Amino acid sequence: MSPSHSSSWFSNVEMGPPDAILGITEAYKADTNPKKVNLGVGAYRNDQGKPHVLPSVIKAEEKISEMNLDHEYLPISGLAEFTAASAKLAFGEKSRVISQKLNATVQGISGTGSLAIGAFFLRDFHQGPKDIYQPTPTWGNHVPLFKRAGFNVKQYRYYDPKTCGFDFSGALQDIAKIPEKSVILLHACAHNPTGVDPKLDQWKELSNLIKQRNLFPFFDMAYQGFATGDIDRDAAAVRLFIEDGHQLVLAQSYAKNMGLYGERIGAFSVVAGSSEEAAKVMSQLKIIIRPLYSNPPVHGARIAAMILNDAALRTQWLKDVKEMAQRIISMRTKLRAVIEGEGSTRNWQHITDQIGMFCFTGMDKEQVERLTKEYSIYLTKDGRISMAGVTSGNVEYLGKAMAKITK
Ligand code: LMR
Repeated sequence: MSPSHSSSWFSNVEMGPPDAILGITEAYKADTNPKKVNLGVGAYRNDQGKPHVLPSVIKAEEKISEMNLDHEYLPISGLAEFTAASAKLAFGEKSRVISQKLNATVQGISGTGSLAIGAFFLRDFHQGPKDIYQPTPTWGNHVPLFKRAGFNVKQYRYYDPKTCGFDFSGALQDIAKIPEKSVILLHACAHNPTGVDPKLDQWKELSNLIKQRNLFPFFDMAYQGFATGDIDRDAAAVRLFIEDGHQLVLAQSYAKNMGLYGERIGAFSVVAGSSEEAAKVMSQLKIIIRPLYSNPPVHGARIAAMILNDAALRTQWLKDVKEMAQRIISMRTKLRAVIEGEGSTRNWQHITDQIGMFCFTGMDKEQVERLTKEYSIYLTKDGRISMAGVTSGNVEYLGKAMAKITK
């Protein structure tokens, strides 16, 4: 017998839109133009446009394979060698967070899963309004992720379309008005989608203001190493906030800086007020994780732990990260030169000023649509291009198309 209320229990389900970022890959795959270029998702490509497996990752996998390990469950909090190394990578080996055992760090399902653990934890335990203030713009997934966890998502000014740079005074003005004890989301480095980061002295002012307003910082660090090629420099904002005495939470991802996209490896840390408090927080993080997915996958954690804990592999990895960052920087220079060489009268300095994986080009929705329709160049509607997908082979094609479209 069919259900009496209608012909199906799910006749109420409407077709949803494709994902603003991952949906682009689907459209790209369906395109038959041999010149097609996918600059949608932030995934690093080598100069031949191919996915890149880092030499340090290849070596780590060889070592792991020789160890003939089993496939038993990890603890709920993840692989201990990984979480300990991950916290040190973020906070620094000599940080008081590490020496005083202030952190409760768990393995997460890459950056997104780590953010989600954080959102659930703050939903349950944050002593303040369930309001999170995010930069305008921010990564598309930040908004629904925190909404699903019950947060009111609000904004503060961040990007200035006039300069294609950081709107420092706008950010300060808006943050000064955020109600006390709200949560503020900060991109630790290589801001996604704009590629625009505050300078260190600007971070210092932001830290002071956030302290003065008694706001709670939630750092998302998905690109450590990708901004400057140097993992310590890229962690400077997080470490500065710690030095300034903030308590904070932090999501980390190894998708980009180790190229472990599909392994879904990340970490979530809470910086507590004492080691006793950190232990209590850890117990609650486990209680959050257990009904979600029981315990995290093991392979990516083994790779990341091996790389972070083995001196030779770590040295190789630091080189690998630098190489990726430098290839992107060289593509920024080339792209700008091609567009300017085409006689474009616009100012394209922001292509080389912005950092990290993305360039926020300033192209509008119509221009993006034309780029996709007429040139099979795929990018997000906000005009963001993943510089990591630009290569010696497609930079001319891309630059000429951009110059034409923006005439
Ligand atoms: C991106 O912004 O392209 C990446 O962070 C990938 C993703 O999951 O959206």
